[in-house]
Amino acid sequence: MSIRSEAELEKMQIIGRIVRATLDAMTAAVQPGVTTSELDGIALATLTRHGAESSPPKAYGFPGTACISVNDEAIHGIPGCRVLAEGDLVKLDVTAEKDGFVADAAVTVRAGNVSVEAEALARCAESAFRMGMRAAQVGSRVYEIGRAVEREVYRCGFSVLKDFCGHGVGRAIHEEPTIPNHFDPRYRTKLTEGLVITVEPIISAGNGRAERGSDRWTIRTADGSMAAHHEHTMVITRTGPQLLTAA
Ligand code: MF3
Ligand code: CO
Ligand code: CO
Repeated sequence: MSIRSEAELEKMQIIGRIVRATLDAMTAAVQPGVTTSELDGIALATLTRHGAESSPPKAYGFPGTACISVNDEAIHGIPGCRVLAEGDLVKLDVTAEKDGFVADAAVTVRAGNVSVEAEALARCAESAFRMGMRAAQVGSRVYEIGRAVEREVYRCGFSVLKDFCGHGVGRAIHEEPTIPNHFDPRYRTKLTEGLVITVEPIISAGNGRAERGSDRWTIRTADGSMAAHHEHTMVITRTGPQLLTAA
């Protein structure tokens, strides 16, 4: 969506804060021995307490409240009986709505102590996010975001899962424009004031090829390498991107 009024901005800020609170509550509960369905229960309880609803079940029939993906699972993992272990990289992705306004954010959380490579990968998802966000200026083209993300991921020595992208958001989960995490000159759309988008690098320590699991949802790395994901919803303004899902 493109925000056209103070009232719309306020509604987006409200759902943005709820998504943040949900991710924070889940993050605080991540530790070895916890199951992903317990984390999902925290997501549901937090959203419900704030009068919000999870969007993926409504929009796509996703079988859970949050997407929870562990280690080689990158995105769209289904919460279940899996018990987290020391060293796991846990990707929490929450998309929720209230009053018809939708926000989407994700973090990579470490369960206990993680390997040096996993730590570097998680940090790279964050720094690539920052570089992508910095490219999201009024008048910039969509491909500038992917170019900035990809450059940072390459600098870190990791790969982008090119099949998955950021997107417009606000009245539905996935709106125009699609925002690749790699450089593709075909994505020439100019960013305009008020546009609401996600920037969300999805990266791996291996070759960047992805495959869908037998549950038909989970996207994992084809080579079994670790994956990381970092996502915020932001509005494009004349003074730079304003994060709606930050603390
Ligand atoms: N949160 C995901 C995103 O960042 C969307 C999940 S919808 C699902 O785009 F149905 F695929 F889970
Ligand atoms: Co998203
Ligand atoms: Co998301």
